[in-house]
Amino acid sequence: MRNRRAALAAIAGAASLALTLSACGQNSEGGSEESGDSAKGGTIGIAMPTKSSERWIADGNNVKKDLESKGYKTQLVYGEDDPDQQVSQIENLITQGVKALIVAAIDNKSMNNVLQQAKDANIPVISYDRLILGSPNVDYYASFDNEKVGELQGTYIVEKLGLKDGSKNGPFNIELFAGSNDDNNTRYFFQGAMNVLQPYIDKKQLVVRSGQTKLNQVTTLRWDGGTAQKRMDDILTSAYKRERVDAVLSPYDGISIGILSALKSDDYGSKSKPLPIVTGQDAELASVKSIIANQQSMTVYKDTRQLAKVASNMVDALLNDKKPEVNDTKTYDNGSKVVPAYLLEPVAVDKTNYQKEVVDSGYIKASDL
Ligand code: GAL
Repeated sequence: MRNRRAALAAIAGAASLALTLSACGQNSEGGSEESGDSAKGGTIGIAMPTKSSERWIADGNNVKKDLESKGYKTQLVYGEDDPDQQVSQIENLITQGVKALIVAAIDNKSMNNVLQQAKDANIPVISYDRLILGSPNVDYYASFDNEKVGELQGTYIVEKLGLKDGSKNGPFNIELFAGSNDDNNTRYFFQGAMNVLQPYIDKKQLVVRSGQTKLNQVTTLRWDGGTAQKRMDDILTSAYKRERVDAVLSPYDGISIGILSALKSDDYGSKSKPLPIVTGQDAELASVKSIIANQQSMTVYKDTRQLAKVASNMVDALLNDKKPEVNDTKTYDNGSKVVPAYLLEPVAVDKTNYQKEVVDSGYIKASDL
């Protein structure tokens, strides 16, 4: 595993350079030397899950912009977290004759039939960020190292509690949250975090007072913050009458904000009752603000501008009869095949490095904070 990580990091470094270079090439060519293939100028369908989270709005816009800069037209649709709606949107895109599809699925298991239709129409499919399961008709996968996301969250918790360097022994109370059970990423995030946390739970240095430690007990349908808030409320009422919670594993910023609301309604954040460590993911604006205000502790920043580039480069390669660049051909078995993937590196961000990582890099504007 360690070697794989090291190799991955090296490849990711080289690849991001390659991405930068190819992006520069793109600009300097200015579209003057087109290859003249029939797909150029064709329309690419982009199906995103929801506009209720700013990351997906940014993902959609970035993919669109990248493809348009390569000379394609785009059709961008949002399924608003309704799997049936997303499937019929993709059916429409196929009927309209798109040349390729980029899909961030809502329910990863609901795509089998519609992807067969894509295959029959000779339309290649890129699974975007979330792996589509159970279908052989997924050509490539563009994502981040999802297990590493969870490892970063788990590691942050054990470091900040002082367990990692042995400066404290605990026991500390922790509660666990996971993402939507219909999203394949959920189990990778959870597994990555539990790889780090489980040994401390086994040694009773971390205690889950709710007793809810299995993935199927801690998932949050559609990553909904309100659902997480309600579950945190219930846990605080039933398992923390006198005790205090010291850390909460949260897989995603929208969930973290819900958890923090429940904690604040229970007086956490006051002088006598400090907020626990609360993790997150996506570096969403509200959460970066929350980190600056000493509420949420950290987030995992995934530069979705890079992800958009990877996905649109994959489409461009496929439509020009070239092999898309990949850096992982082993990890992502979708139950039907191992989908060749390009995985980017996630970065842990807290108050100490948000400026460098998310502001100086232009991901979030200083004025928005
Ligand atoms: C996951 C994604 C996360 C987060 C979450 C909720 O699939 O990998 O970064 O965005 O969905 O939207």
